[in-house]
Amino acid sequence: MIEAVNLTKTFKNTKAVENINLYIEQGEIVGLLGPNGAGKSTTIALISTLIEPTAGEVLFQQQSIIDNPKLLRNKLGVVPQEIALYGDLTARENLQFFGTIQKIGKGELKERIDTILQQIGLEDDKKKLVKYYSGGMRRRLNIGVALLHKPAYLILDEPTVGIDPQSRSYILQAIKRLNQEENTAIIYTSHYMEEVEFLCDRLYIMDRGKIIATGTKEEIKAILASEKTVEIKLQKHSKAFAEALLTHAMLANVQIAEAQMTFTVDKNLDFLAIILPLCELHQIVLKGFQVKEPTLEDVFLHLTGRALRD
Ligand SMILES: Nc1ncnc2c1ncn2[C@@H]1O[C@H](COP(=O)(O)OP(=O)(O)O)[C@@H](O)[C@H]1O
Ligand SMILES: [Mg+2]
Repeated sequence: MIEAVNLTKTFKNTKAVENINLYIEQGEIVGLLGPNGAGKSTTIALISTLIEPTAGEVLFQQQSIIDNPKLLRNKLGVVPQEIALYGDLTARENLQFFGTIQKIGKGELKERIDTILQQIGLEDDKKKLVKYYSGGMRRRLNIGVALLHKPAYLILDEPTVGIDPQSRSYILQAIKRLNQEENTAIIYTSHYMEEVEFLCDRLYIMDRGKIIATGTKEEIKAILASEKTVEIKLQKHSKAFAEALLTHAMLANVQIAEAQMTFTVDKNLDFLAIILPLCELHQIVLKGFQVKEPTLEDVFLHLTGRALRD
């Protein structure tokens, strides 16, 4: 188990990470979800001992890895946000290079490279130079490099940002397979709620350097158990009607997207008893409504008053 205890990192005046507690056990997939600037990359850099904490501890099997980084280093693979590869080499040559500097034996390395090229779906492109790769292919190879030493724990920092949807779905599937087939524990960092929802057993939601919610998806969504989210569609947008929703005492988290509007209300409240009279008052035709299951996005909005992707 890797554990962060009261972890804090301050850069000059910025508290990037403040008193964070988290853990990951062997074989699980844990998500770290939060908007840009939440402190995700800093948390990862601390756990992988790339930077030193201002306060707090990182433990591996109950021993401090800040005092002794070697304890974890050969068990941990990190896929950073920035891609580090050699453009004038092929995928195989890149893996060969990074494997050699990690001092993996020749025979073993060849076997590892064959397995990895298959895991990241680059066997067919292995002769192509990396400089001709798409962003998604580079990302996949970057993940491959982190897998060379067969880490028991793999940390990925927003691995799907800025790549095509096909590569994105490939990466998500590959991570799931890696977890299922090799029991690799994964810390998956993202600001995409759907990815975390798809992949993770447990998650931490971060905002402004702090963990603001943690648990399974179900546990986190239960934060909203007393509310329901309602989406309504109007025949056409009305400023006055939107204003009436925004200022209504019983409605929260009101979001207006033209004629489509969403809000949260107390679970037991008959929201139509509020909406229908308002429609009448503003001479609005209600085209439809839908009560939606809460999403992690809704939880984030509820806890912070802001959307995840501001
Ligand atoms: N080396 C650094 N020096 C100064 N400020 C930093 C440094 N790294 C990160 N920060 C700041 O710390 C906060 C958290 O950043 P980061 O961990 O990169 O967030 P995330 O990965 O969630 O987007 C941000 O306000 C960022 O500007
Ligand atoms: Mg980051």
